Amino acid sequence: MAVHSETELMQNVTAPTKPRILLAASGSVAAIKFGSLCHSFCEWAEVRAVATKSSMHFIDIASLPRDLILYTDEDEWSSWKKIGDGVLHIELRKWADVMVIAPLSANTLAKIAGGLCDNLLTCVVRAWDFDKPLFVAPAMNTFMWNNPFTAQHLDLITKLGISLIPPITKRLACGDYGNGAMAEPSLIYSTVMLHVNSRSQPLGNSNGASNITNIALQELLLVSNLPICYVFGLCQLDLENVIVALFQS
Ligand SMILES: Cc1cc2nc3c(=O)[nH]c(=O)nc-3n(C[C@H](O)[C@H](O)[C@H](O)COP(=O)(O)O)c2cc1C
Repeated sequence: MAVHSETELMQNVTAPTKPRILLAASGSVAAIKFGSLCHSFCEWAEVRAVATKSSMHFIDIASLPRDLILYTDEDEWSSWKKIGDGVLHIELRKWADVMVIAPLSANTLAKIAGGLCDNLLTCVVRAWDFDKPLFVAPAMNTFMWNNPFTAQHLDLITKLGISLIPPITKRLACGDYGNGAMAEPSLIYSTVMLHVNSRSQPLGNSNGASNITNIALQELLLVSNLPICYVFGLCQLDLENVIVALFQS
C-alpha cells in the first residue's frame, strides 16, 4: 500500500475543479465490485479510497484504477512518525467533500452507530463533518439485514445525517435469496453524482455540469426501482426542478 504524506494530501487544496470523493469499502463480499465503483467515480471526481482489513479479502487490487490511492490501516500508522506529522484519518476527513462507504458491512454499520473507531475507515467517520454528505450502501446476508440490530443501527446513523442507499433483493453470493445485496454500482454512482451536482448549482442551466446532473438523474430513475419520492428526498430535489431537468435533457 502506498504511504502518502500530509504534504501530498494537501497538495490539491487550492481551487479543486472536481469534487473530492472518498470511497470506502468494508468487509462484505460485495467489495468485489469496489473496483468497478472506483472506475465510475474516477471519470467524474477526484477519488481516494479506504479499505478495511476484511474488505481486502474481496478487493482485486488489479481491478482498481491505476492512479487510485488506496489507504489501509497500515498507512494510518506508517505515515505518522512523530508529533507534528499529519494524522491520516484527519487529513482524509479534511480532504474529502463527500464520503461513500460501499459496501457497508454489518460490522462497520454497528461500529459507526456506536461511535467506535478502531480502524482507518471508522476513524474518518468518527471525525466526519456531517455538513458534508456521507453515503452508505449496506451489503449483507438477508439474515443479517433482517436482524433487529440493523434497523436500530440504521436509525442511529440516519439521525446523524448519513444517507442510506438501500440494498436490493436478489440471489446473494451465498446462494440465499432475499434482501441485503448492495445496490448496483451504477445506482450508487448516480445517486451521489446527482446529490453533489444538485448542491453545487440549480438544475436546468445549460452548462456542462447541469447536463451531467440531468444524465445522472435519468440514470438513477432508470436503474433504480426506488420510489420516486425517495429519489427526490435523497437528492434534496424539488419536483419542479426535476421535471425541468428531464425535459431539458
Ligand atoms: C466469505 C465471507 C463473506 C462475508 N460477507 C459479508 C457480507 O456480505 N456482509 C457483511 O456484513 N459481513 C460479511 N462477512 C463478515 C465480515 O467480513 C466480518 O464481519 C468482518 O469483521 C467485517 O469487518 P469490517 O467491517 O471491518 O470490514 C463475510 C465474511 C466472510 C468470511
